[in-house]
Amino acid sequence: CGIVGYIGFRDAYPIVIKGLHRLEYRGYDSAGVALLDETSNLNIYKKAGKVADLEGFIEGRDHSGTIGMGHTRWATHGAPNDRNSHPHQSGDEKLAIIHNGIIENYGPLKEELISRGHVFKSDTDTEVLIHLIEDIRQEAEIDLQKAVREALKQVIGAYAIVIMSKEDPEMLIAARKGSPMVIGVGKNEYFIASDATPIVEYTKNVIYLDDNEIAYLKADELVIRSIDNEVKTPYVQQLEIKLEMLEKGGYDHFMLKEIYEQPRSIGDCMRGRIYPLEGKVKLGGIKEYTEKFKNAHRIIIVACGTSWHAGLVGEYLIEEYARIPVEVEYASEFRYRNPIITENDIVIAISQSGETADTMAAIEMAKAKGATIFGICNVVGSSIPRLSDAGIYTHAGPEIGVASTKAFTAQVTALTLMAFYMAEKKGTIAQTKLIALLSELERIPSLVERALQSDGLIREISEKFKDSRNALFLGRGSGFPVALEGALKLKEISYIHAEGYPAAEMKHGPIALIDEQMPVIVIATKNSSYEKVISNIQEVKARKGVVIAIVTEGDTEVVRMADYSIEIPSADEAFLPLLATIPLQLLSYHIAVLRGCNVDQPRNLAKSVTVE
Ligand code: G6P
Repeated sequence: CGIVGYIGFRDAYPIVIKGLHRLEYRGYDSAGVALLDETSNLNIYKKAGKVADLEGFIEGRDHSGTIGMGHTRWATHGAPNDRNSHPHQSGDEKLAIIHNGIIENYGPLKEELISRGHVFKSDTDTEVLIHLIEDIRQEAEIDLQKAVREALKQVIGAYAIVIMSKEDPEMLIAARKGSPMVIGVGKNEYFIASDATPIVEYTKNVIYLDDNEIAYLKADELVIRSIDNEVKTPYVQQLEIKLEMLEKGGYDHFMLKEIYEQPRSIGDCMRGRIYPLEGKVKLGGIKEYTEKFKNAHRIIIVACGTSWHAGLVGEYLIEEYARIPVEVEYASEFRYRNPIITENDIVIAISQSGETADTMAAIEMAKAKGATIFGICNVVGSSIPRLSDAGIYTHAGPEIGVASTKAFTAQVTALTLMAFYMAEKKGTIAQTKLIALLSELERIPSLVERALQSDGLIREISEKFKDSRNALFLGRGSGFPVALEGALKLKEISYIHAEGYPAAEMKHGPIALIDEQMPVIVIATKNSSYEKVISNIQEVKARKGVVIAIVTEGDTEVVRMADYSIEIPSADEAFLPLLATIPLQLLSYHIAVLRGCNVDQPRNLAKSVTVE
């Protein structure tokens, strides 16, 4: 979900609604705003649907006031309808709240409050929290600040909240635990948001709230205290994001823009980190831990979704070059098993947003068992880098399209760098080989540029498959995670059922599905498994499947067998995932556009999944 808030001298509504548009990628089931005008009227508007629907609804209604907050929701408790949308109010309607995260013990709290006469209007956990604050305040006759503190002490779960009160009309209260919250510092004004995107255009000075901190904001004063009421000194940081990074810049969709940004984002990820002439990789973020890596018995990679696929690529690369055993785990499974972790293990957490609740919980668990934690994250200042012992940023820039593209290739780039770094330090790679690989890696951005030139052809191919109901993606070696990622992209944004499989596994199941209706996308580039993949293509053709092959430039053999072929530039096998991913992203993009789908905001999905 997305949170935005404003307190200052300007009209709050335009800032809040614009912020909600910027945050919409975080959730778009429903949206709402609360505004406090100068006579302390609290106006709340909320609607199921997109931010634009809310905007239409508010048009012509009173939206004055210099204090405001808004929320865009990805439903957890309760269906995405008007009633369950945020903001929620206390029983006396004097308090309003917006909330990200989950109050796990909302059930017993709600029962208790009902027994005390509270009546609830929604099915949400959030409404329970605001009633609890109201209840504590009335019962103990204490001020709002204290009531918020006391209530938060009773809460189990994760939250980022903003509270507004008719009786304290000069103040916003914001608090966080396990869910991100950024405060933008202006002159006689403050901005609040769940990530920096709504803030960038007003100020570059931001404060990231820490867990168990509560911020009390007035137009000209900010006080941060711990939940135990100790005063904290705010640490103001400079944002590196620029406004144009958050806009479509002439592209029809953010996803397309982000696909096209990859030559740059991959380049940014390795900038200053590779030195081909010396055969060296420099990773300032993990330098101190070099010995730890050299002596690691095992690396466990934890992640979710697309980031998990990047992890699988990392497994191939690290085992191949650095010869350290790697296991790749879904964070959500890992956290609830009783995995064997020792102090000699390194856990690498991969996350675009740096906020994914399952990944965070997995880290916390591994940390408690003594493992060293490295983060590979994109969003600077997000929670996972802060939980990690060390790590590296991917520097892909803000990714707005819900389906991850440039963040994935940047993650793969970062893992490639880590694999080479460890290999060099451990001496598991010959210097000449490393020099050759690094020189080639330096050219990858321009090769990605070339891969993008197939866009027109891919669009034509997409026309033929836009009405498909299923698709199978096959690859071997590091082409297998590429196939998984290709299938995920297609199902996420076009709602075509798609599966990724190791090409050789096809005969143990998916082959039963193959007929003239089944497009089979095969990663068939010239590398060590080329001949084997050719056999797999023949198996598909023998069952009348339609083959779309991703081939190396100049290939003739596969091209002859396949129904459609898309070329990518030739490169060392190590870089196959970076190149082969590009046409698959474009394929799912065009198919989704041709089907009329909302590419940037696919149904039911959210970009940052801050709940488990
Ligand atoms: C959501 C997003 C995916 C992303 C996954 C993991 O499902 O829609 O694009 O891969 O979360 O997110 P993370 O931010 O941890 O990479």
